[in-house]
Amino acid sequence: MLFSAVVAGLIGLACASPAPKPASETNLARRQSGPNYPVYTFDQLIDHFPDSDRYTPHTNDTFKQRYVYDSTYYKPGGPIFLYIGGETSVESRLENIESGIIQILMNATNGLGIILENRYYGDSYPLPGSTTDELRFLTTEQTIADNAYFAQHVQLPGINGSINAPDTPWILYGGSLAGAQTAFSVKTYGDILYGGIAASAPIHVVLGYSEWYAPIQKFAPQDCVASINAIIDKMDYLISTNNTAAIQELKSIFGLGSLGDIRDFAMTIAFPLGGPMNYPTNTWQELNWSPLYGSNDFWNFCNNVSDINAPANITAVDNQLAKYTNGEPWTNLGNYANYVKQIVLPYCTSGDYDSTNDGCFSTQNVSYWADTTNSGGRSYLYSTCIEQGAYQVAPPSGPSLVSRVLQVDYTQQWCTWAFPAGEYNTIPSTPDLTQYTKYGDFNFSAPRLAFIDGNQDVWLDLCYHSNDAPARYSSDLHPEHLIAGAGHHWDSYGIKDIPAEPQFIRNAHYWEIRTVQKWLRSRQSSSKRDQVVKGREL
Ligand SMILES: *[C@@H]1O[C@H](CO)[C@@H](O)[C@H](O)[C@H]1NC(C)=O
Ligand SMILES: *[C@@H]1O[C@H](CO)[C@@H](O)[C@H](O)[C@H]1NC(C)=O
Ligand SMILES: *[C@@H]1O[C@H](CO)[C@@H](O)[C@H](O)[C@H]1NC(C)=O
Ligand SMILES: *[C@@H]1O[C@H](CO)[C@@H](O)[C@H](O)[C@H]1NC(C)=O
Ligand SMILES: *[C@@H]1O[C@H](CO)[C@@H](O)[C@H](O)[C@H]1NC(C)=O
Ligand SMILES: *[C@@H]1O[C@H](CO)[C@@H](O)[C@H](O)[C@H]1NC(C)=O
Ligand SMILES: *[C@@H]1O[C@H](CO)[C@@H](O)[C@H](O)[C@H]1NC(C)=O
Ligand SMILES: *[C@@H]1O[C@H](CO)[C@@H](O)[C@H](O)[C@H]1NC(C)=O
Repeated sequence: MLFSAVVAGLIGLACASPAPKPASETNLARRQSGPNYPVYTFDQLIDHFPDSDRYTPHTNDTFKQRYVYDSTYYKPGGPIFLYIGGETSVESRLENIESGIIQILMNATNGLGIILENRYYGDSYPLPGSTTDELRFLTTEQTIADNAYFAQHVQLPGINGSINAPDTPWILYGGSLAGAQTAFSVKTYGDILYGGIAASAPIHVVLGYSEWYAPIQKFAPQDCVASINAIIDKMDYLISTNNTAAIQELKSIFGLGSLGDIRDFAMTIAFPLGGPMNYPTNTWQELNWSPLYGSNDFWNFCNNVSDINAPANITAVDNQLAKYTNGEPWTNLGNYANYVKQIVLPYCTSGDYDSTNDGCFSTQNVSYWADTTNSGGRSYLYSTCIEQGAYQVAPPSGPSLVSRVLQVDYTQQWCTWAFPAGEYNTIPSTPDLTQYTKYGDFNFSAPRLAFIDGNQDVWLDLCYHSNDAPARYSSDLHPEHLIAGAGHHWDSYGIKDIPAEPQFIRNAHYWEIRTVQKWLRSRQSSSKRDQVVKGREL
């Protein structure tokens, strides 16, 4: 697969493709041209668990873990806000301390903000390559141990005096995968880390995650949704009846006649919606309340699919396959195919879509997956394969936006090809989800751990406010907030002007500020109480 698509996964931002850049990459570049934060490194332990069989052979070595910090609002005695880097580089998280949630919280509390890059991402690789053996230290428990060890030991250049945990209150923030790591860190290291906000955090995981498409099915413009559902039903009917000639005709309508594997075809035409693990353009997940951060690709796609003014030669395509479906036209097929041809296919600059499994849209080249060069995409796939799962699949029943050929086996084959057994480390045949669920699953609870989610997030059903979770009730010690109308950790974005934000985001930010301020006040009053008690003891 020469075509290097975006790793969709739980990441909040699309756009890592070397192909023509989607609109939001321009935004990304704009965001990154903000203040220049020097990047520092911390000597982090590669192996926090010298007694665990999981990590043999052990090592006492350290690696350089990158971080940046911002002391613009800091006054000695203020709290430390640790932004958990998650599945991307420290650079791509800078907006969070510059104008996002960390800036908001620092400004409200005279705090200091730090972004810590996740091991095996950005430039924080413990080992030279990413063979299956070299990846053995990339686990959730090692990653969250990094957070606690860092909080206890980092010395910030230019900051006098200790800011280390637990004497100074450290409050974590993470969105998405990093949100789950925030929750797991605060729960596991509550004696070191004072609190945390877990945004859109997948604390519950499943193997096949068809609910990824549920908010699109429910909230996207319904004429667009209904026509895609009907097209997919017809396509799946051709597949289930082995109508090879008709399937070939369908592929050719999308300009993808040369693509061999039917699942690769199904994924490619699903790109504007979001393919399993990969997509080159931006989807529902990349919508955002602020035009600074979001992309309109999804709206453009849906408006194209349901365009009632398309030229006759495009609408004529709707009747081309009617002969296979009892004369029923494939409404909006011409529009859908035209969009894919105009917007998706040009990402393949070679114009070679398959050619014996090596073209842009084929995922069937085993040696492509087996490349052991360090990369964020590979690290993310590894975590997915060993612990996280949540493979995007078609729903088991009801209407679908993607073909039902997209099942767990499609993603699992990549795991198998990418991570052949090493000398010391072998990936499980299917992800060991207990590595996530053991922290509490839907019963997750830890003092001063706040959960915030968006009800239109594609990852919602893995989060605290999942439709499958019990009703939630908030308290100061266990705060929770579900933002109506919001997507994937939308609270992490800011514009340095809270009153100018849309009301649902503004009020989420006020809630986060109050939550953190209450925690800090209760700490101050309890430490005063401790002093009084100590005074009496003397
Ligand atoms: C790490 O250091 C400890 C203490 O010095 C030692 O007992 C252990 O053997 C070392 N482990 C390795 C893998 O070198
Ligand atoms: C830290 O201390 C040094 C020496 O006392 C002083 O020159 C410097 O201004 C201090 N820096 C900060 C950020 O307070
Ligand atoms: C479709 O073709 C496959 C492989 O040729 C065969 O195994 C299967 O039974 C066929 N299914 C139907 C419904 O004819
Ligand atoms: C179709 O998509 C293109 C490219 O994204 C966009 O410029 C155009 O406005 C869309 N057309 C409609 C009818 O929305
Ligand atoms: C429709 O006609 C236009 C203008 O002649 C042409 O550029 C386009 O390729 C045609 N589209 C299809 C699907 O035939
Ligand atoms: C598969 O991928 C490898 C590595 O990316 C490449 O060298 C090779 O040419 C590809 N093609 C085929 C058909 O295996
Ligand atoms: C949550 O706790 C209840 C009561 O203890 C238990 O019945 C349930 O199985 C737990 N659920 C999960 C997902 O752990
Ligand atoms: C900082 O907070 C104050 C209120 O406490 C607010 O007036 C000000 O606009 C905020 N500044 C920034 C840059 O966010």
